[in-house]
Amino acid sequence: MRIAILGSGFIARFYATSLHAQRRKDYILTVYSRDIENAKRFADDYQLSHFTSDIDEAITHPDVDVVLISLPNDLHEMAVAKCADAKKHVLCTKPLGRTAAEAKRMLDMVEKAGIFGGYLEDLCYTPKFLKSVDAIQNGNIGKVLWTKSREAHPGPHSDWFWNKEKSGGGAIIDLGCHCVEIGRNFIGKNVKPLEVMCWADTQVHPIEAEDHAIGLVKYENGAIGQFEVSWTFRGGMDLRDEVVGTEGSIWLNSFLRTGFEIFSTGKGDNYIAEKAEISQGWLFPVGDEAHELGYPNMFTDMFSAIEEGRDALETFYDGYVVNAILDAAYLSAKTKKWEPVVLEDWRGEEVSDKKQQLISFDEDYFLIKEELMPNEDLKRILKHKNTGEVVQKIFKPEKL
Ligand SMILES: NC(=O)c1ccc[n+]([C@@H]2O[C@H](COP(=O)([O-])OP(=O)(O)OC[C@H]3O[C@@H](n4cnc5c(N)ncnc54)[C@H](O)[C@@H]3O)[C@@H](O)[C@H]2O)c1
Repeated sequence: MRIAILGSGFIARFYATSLHAQRRKDYILTVYSRDIENAKRFADDYQLSHFTSDIDEAITHPDVDVVLISLPNDLHEMAVAKCADAKKHVLCTKPLGRTAAEAKRMLDMVEKAGIFGGYLEDLCYTPKFLKSVDAIQNGNIGKVLWTKSREAHPGPHSDWFWNKEKSGGGAIIDLGCHCVEIGRNFIGKNVKPLEVMCWADTQVHPIEAEDHAIGLVKYENGAIGQFEVSWTFRGGMDLRDEVVGTEGSIWLNSFLRTGFEIFSTGKGDNYIAEKAEISQGWLFPVGDEAHELGYPNMFTDMFSAIEEGRDALETFYDGYVVNAILDAAYLSAKTKKWEPVVLEDWRGEEVSDKKQQLISFDEDYFLIKEELMPNEDLKRILKHKNTGEVVQKIFKPEKL
C-alpha cells in the first residue's frame, strides 16, 4: 500500500515509525502538513518521496492507495469527506468523531463512496490484547461479566487537546474511546450497549473539560464495562485492563509494568517511554513501544482487509458505537443518572442471553460455591431448588 499521511505531529510519527520499521512493504508516499517546513522535516526523517502543504494534493495523488488521518479531532470529518470525494480508502485515528452524530456522518460517507473505513484503535491490537480476546472466544474464562479498562497519564502533549471545541471534551473523549472499545471487544461487539453512568470532574487543570472520569457501561447481556480515565495521574502512562468471567479472569498491564526495569542515576537524557515523567531512579521503559501499543498488528490487519475485501477488526462502525457510548457518558456526568446509549444504527444482536448459568449440585440443590478451608474441610454452600433456602454442607477430609 502506498499511503498519504495527513498531519505530521505525535501520532503521525508513531504511525510512520511503525510503517517504516522492519522491512515492511507498505510505505508512506507523501505527507501533508499545513506548515511546509514540518512536512519537509517529516519527509526527510522518514525518507518520503513527496511532501506538501496542500491537503487535496496529498489525498488525490494518483499513486496513493490509502489515506491515514492523523489530524486533531475537529478535522477528522473534513478529511474523511475529502477521501470520500476522491474515492480513496481511509484510516482514521481515534476518536472517530467528537460526537456520535459526527462519527455517523463519517460512516455514511465511506459507505456511500464504497471506500474502506478503518478505525485506528491501536490498543485493540496489542499482542496481549489479541491473545486475551482469543482466550475469551475459546471459552477460557467463561461468560464475561465485568471488564475494567484504565488509561491515565498527566495530560496530552498539544494545545488543541485542551480546547473543548477542537477535541470534543477532555479525558473521556481522548482516553475513554480506547477503554470503551477494549471493553466492547472483551464483552462481545455483538452485544448491545444499553446505558451509561459516569462521574467526571475537572480536578487539577485550568480547563473547561473534564480531566478525570469513571464510567460504567451496561450491556444487554448483563455484563458491565468500567472505564477509568485521567489527565491528572502522575508517574507515567498507566494502561491496564481486567476481565472477569464465570470461569476465570485476565489482568493486563500494557505499559507501566511490562517486566522491563532500568535504574539510572540520571546520566544521559534518553527518551524512556511515552509520557514517562522522569529519567532518574527506577524506570519502566517499554521494549518496542509501537508493537506494545499495537500499531504493527493494526496496520497489517487494515491493509490485509483492504486487499481481501473484508472489514478490519476495527471499523468506522466501531468508532461510531464508541462515540455513542461516550455521548451517553457526557450526558450522565451532567444529569448524574444512567443515560441510554442512542444508536440509530445498531448492527449487532437485538436480544442476547441474559440468563444466569445455574450449576446443579444434585436433584434438590444448586451449588452457590465450594471452598477448601484451612482445616481441610470442604465447605459447600447450596441453595434449595424449590424453597430457595441456603444451607452449607461440610465434608471432612476423610469423607472426600
Ligand atoms: N493512541 C492513539 O491512537 C493516539 C495517540 C495520540 C493521538 N491520537 C490522535 O491523533 C490525532 C492527532 O493527535 P496528535 O497527538 O498527533 O496531535 P499533534 O498536535 O501532535 O499533531 C497534530 C497534527 O495536526 C496538525 N494540525 C493542527 N491543527 C491543524 C489545522 N488547523 N489544520 C491542519 N493541520 C493541523 C499539526 O500541525 C500536527 O501535524 C488526534 O485525533 C488524536 O486523538 C491517537
